[in-house]
Amino acid sequence: AALRRTTTEPSRLMSRSCYSSGSHPERKVVILGAAGGIGQPLSLLMKLNPLVSSLSLYDIANTPGVAADVSHINSRAQVAGYAGEEQLGQALEGSDIVIIPAGVPRKPGMTRDDLFNINAGIVKSLCIAIAKYCPNALVNMISNPVNSTVPIAAEVFKKAGTYDEKKLFGVTTLDVVRAKTFYAGKAKLPVAEVNVPVVGGHAGVTILPLFSQATPKSNSLGDEDIRALTKRTQDGGTEVVEAKAGKGSATLSMAYAGAVFADACLKGLNGVPDIVECSYVQSTITELPFFASKVRLGKNGVEEVLGLGPLSDFEKEGLKSLKPELKSSIEKGVKFANQS
Ligand code: NAD
Ligand code: LMR
Repeated sequence: AALRRTTTEPSRLMSRSCYSSGSHPERKVVILGAAGGIGQPLSLLMKLNPLVSSLSLYDIANTPGVAADVSHINSRAQVAGYAGEEQLGQALEGSDIVIIPAGVPRKPGMTRDDLFNINAGIVKSLCIAIAKYCPNALVNMISNPVNSTVPIAAEVFKKAGTYDEKKLFGVTTLDVVRAKTFYAGKAKLPVAEVNVPVVGGHAGVTILPLFSQATPKSNSLGDEDIRALTKRTQDGGTEVVEAKAGKGSATLSMAYAGAVFADACLKGLNGVPDIVECSYVQSTITELPFFASKVRLGKNGVEEVLGLGPLSDFEKEGLKSLKPELKSSIEKGVKFANQS
């Protein structure tokens, strides 16, 4: 034990601020689907987050191995693995944040909506358990189709009498991550300094990057460049699905994006001011009941849903054409949740 204490101190591997727990409050984070393609790297990244004191890893199988593996990393979070439905309650109890990457991913030729038949039921049953065991937790929904799974979760929580619209988030951070990467590359800007809001939803044309609001501003990009960047951001998921050729969809970039968003939620919970991320939430900024936009995060989850800001004509057109698809995906989710 003495040897273990003196070997790889985390501060030697990473900067002190990255690992030190300081006086951060206790926070329990649960990952549902933790043994999957996203779940495993996301478990790793959450284990590295000094804001997490307890990390609970749940899946229908294989979580003991993932948990044992990740638990050997010498960082703050205490790790526990839970496998099988009978352990779901224990996994969830006392959680501050529940991250859900459970469900099947796309194969080439599929849309995200093609996943609805399998994933809607998975999400529904997990949300029933969340309502029972940790009704006050923030829920970060990654499972596709996000445009429908978030409304499903809302309906399940409403039925259980636990719904708080401030605590339910569709994770659209990967769209922002992609928009930043593609914009920085095209405009030859330092990627770490780039920010691009992405609004709407998380599927095809419902993903609307607002390059007119990108910072730093670029004077080198013309209309055609913006069209191409928009299309690449909208098709980013498909680009990965095709490259993986039947072996799933984005997992590593998604784990990164999920960790960024969960970190923002944790900071908000801890009272850090001015934490703003794009997310798909209950919203009144358009006529649609759910919409992704910039959201200010606070001690109770959503503190403020920020407006769209000024849009270019191209973006106005995009906004108009995304609404029918987003509306029908929302309605499909609501209908499913209320069926049985
Ligand atoms: P995967 O198949 O590799 O992993 C999914 C995991 O979910 C598996 O380990 C499986 O056992 C588990 N699972 C299935 N049913 C479960 C249940 N009832 N309870 C708990 N766990 C259960 O898939 P993946 O690549 O990790 O993708 C997961 C989901 O995330 C897919 O729906 C995918 O489309 C979605 N996704 C979303 C985004 C986004 O930007 N929001 C990005 C990438 C992927
Ligand atoms: C993504 O954007 O990468 C995910 O939604 C997965 C997918 O099916 O494209």
